[in-house]
Amino acid sequence: MSAETTRRASTSLALRLDDLQAADAMLLAAGAYWPLDGFMGERDYRGVLRDLRLDGGQIFPLPIVLPVPDDFAARPGDALTLHTPDGGELLMEVQERFRRQRQWEAFAVYRTGDAGHPGVERLLREEEQCLAGPIHVVSYGKTAFPEPWTPEETRRLIAERGWRKIVAFQTRNPLHRAHEHLLRLALERVDGLLLHPLVGPTKHDDVPAPVRMACYRLTLTAFFPPERVLLGVLPAAMRYAGPREALFHALVRRNYGATHFVVGRDAAGVGDLYHPDESRELVERYAEELGIAPIGFAPVGYCPRCDGFVSSRTCPHRQQWIELSGTALRAMLKRGEDPPKELVRPEIAAVLRRHFRSDG
Ligand code: ADX
Repeated sequence: MSAETTRRASTSLALRLDDLQAADAMLLAAGAYWPLDGFMGERDYRGVLRDLRLDGGQIFPLPIVLPVPDDFAARPGDALTLHTPDGGELLMEVQERFRRQRQWEAFAVYRTGDAGHPGVERLLREEEQCLAGPIHVVSYGKTAFPEPWTPEETRRLIAERGWRKIVAFQTRNPLHRAHEHLLRLALERVDGLLLHPLVGPTKHDDVPAPVRMACYRLTLTAFFPPERVLLGVLPAAMRYAGPREALFHALVRRNYGATHFVVGRDAAGVGDLYHPDESRELVERYAEELGIAPIGFAPVGYCPRCDGFVSSRTCPHRQQWIELSGTALRAMLKRGEDPPKELVRPEIAAVLRRHFRSDG
């Protein structure tokens, strides 16, 4: 950023970002969304909605935009100070103003215009006017967890461990036994595991990030060899965009230094909007071009007849698997009951029960 821009920023406009915008701004400045280094302009936006590509041709599956009210005065050429809720400060070089097309965006990204979808609900509340331009960090503000959150620090920790093949695991849930099974299978094929939970804004009935972090630390410490695992965090917001978001998650993890990425049943989905195989198929289609190898999984679960974790590819008793919906699991924990130990480890269930009981 030029001295001229910095000087003008000190006397110019400021904007308070909400949680989701702040997460995007910080991650853009930190290089997590590379090759994107700022909020998108119209050509990138349209390319992404049309065929998952930036104007320059690189794959990018989600629009990353900064909506502002129509009467917000920033114009191309202005420098804008962005304040995050956690006390961070960033600078944006405003290059463009444009209007997003919310209906098109809803159907392209989420494949529905239904405001019952958490991503669409937010989109429909947001402004149409967007500002675009590169973002630079002044200070990041206080982060919520001690674990590394920038690509730079994460890559440094990976390099210190001497790993060459690293599998990243995206999750927005506490680790259930099925997740753990996937982690172990993936870890058989690489040098190290980057457990990389998304800890930014999620929908209200997902388990809050601090509770989940307690579960991740506990699972890794008690059940994995410490020299083969690394816990980091991705402070991005969850959009619940299914296949497009799973591809985005793979792209971002490449930037954090992962060479492999786990993608399983209905990754980044919500309800039964997307087909359970779609996220995996989309990631597999673009993985080579992205530069990250997918480790894809069919649905896995615990089969009492086989007496172990199996997948729909390896077991003929799908009807007998021990399964619980998220809603049913939450209800059990709220009532103080133990979920089947084949689904959730008792140690993890205890942490979750404390949360759900205190949550009312
Ligand atoms: S996500 O929204 O972050 O993708 P979640 O935390 O539940 O959701 O899942 C993390 C990863 O594990 C995703 O790749 C998901 O597809 C995979 N996964 C979760 N449960 C299963 C399962 N039972 N079978 C196969 N894959 C699964």
